[in-house]
Amino acid sequence: MKIDVLTLFPEIFQCFFQWSIIGRAMNKELVSLNSINIRDFSKDKHKKVDDYPYGGGPGMVMQPEPIYEAINNVKTDCSKVIYLSPKGIPYTQSVANRLSKETHLILLSGHYEGIDNRVIENYVDEEISIGDYVLTGGEIPALVLVDSIVRLIPGVLSSEDSYMEESHYNGLLEYPQYTRPREFKGHIVPSILLSGNHKEIEEWRLYESLKLTYLNRPDLIEKLNLTKEEEEILEEIYTELKTNNK
Ligand SMILES: C[S@@+](CC[C@H](N)C(=O)[O-])C[C@H]1O[C@@H](n2cnc3c(N)ncnc32)[C@H](O)[C@@H]1O
Repeated sequence: MKIDVLTLFPEIFQCFFQWSIIGRAMNKELVSLNSINIRDFSKDKHKKVDDYPYGGGPGMVMQPEPIYEAINNVKTDCSKVIYLSPKGIPYTQSVANRLSKETHLILLSGHYEGIDNRVIENYVDEEISIGDYVLTGGEIPALVLVDSIVRLIPGVLSSEDSYMEESHYNGLLEYPQYTRPREFKGHIVPSILLSGNHKEIEEWRLYESLKLTYLNRPDLIEKLNLTKEEEEILEEIYTELKTNNK
């Protein structure tokens, strides 16, 4: 897979692309990541890329031509162009899963008041938001997409780091995790995890996973097609919480 990020601040990406899991994926040639400066495609002698909004209003808008040229410079028949925008569809794990199967992503980061809408209408395939808040630029959203997509590419995570048990993969939040020491400042690890009984550990994890999802994200529970076993566990959880007045 190849991901090109179009931005006014390509330096922000260079460090990130070199480190940890993302850096290793690059070194193993499982992914090719590039950050490209939209300003390089400005025909203005001062490399200006923005102008006042038609109709008035605060701030500046990124002009269409440098963005159009930057897209065309990297676009091929198998590219998908994504504009990071607070007006886009919400970014979720299922969108990340879908995008991880693409061959070439072009991530367009806006700045100022955003970009000229003619780019969105004519040259963008999808508009994606990372949340209901406004950031200064699309660089952090682009990093969020790169990170969450690259870790799904086969071979990037080792089998021990598998993403399949992680939060959101199967619609639930992940069960609580613990490591050494067994006791920390008087707080002990749940004894079941030290029992060596894998079946009981699996059951405990499913219970905790359902409980955490019910408490923190009941909206996710509503979207699930629960198995009979999971429905029974949820009943147990309701009883436990009622008993403990939660
Ligand atoms: C200050 S924002 C522009 C906000 C725009 N005027 C609006 O009200 O929708 C500048 C840039 O940051 C990026 N951005 C800001 N918030 C975002 C979010 N929640 N998700 C994705 N991109 C975002 C977009 O690329 C946007 O063009």
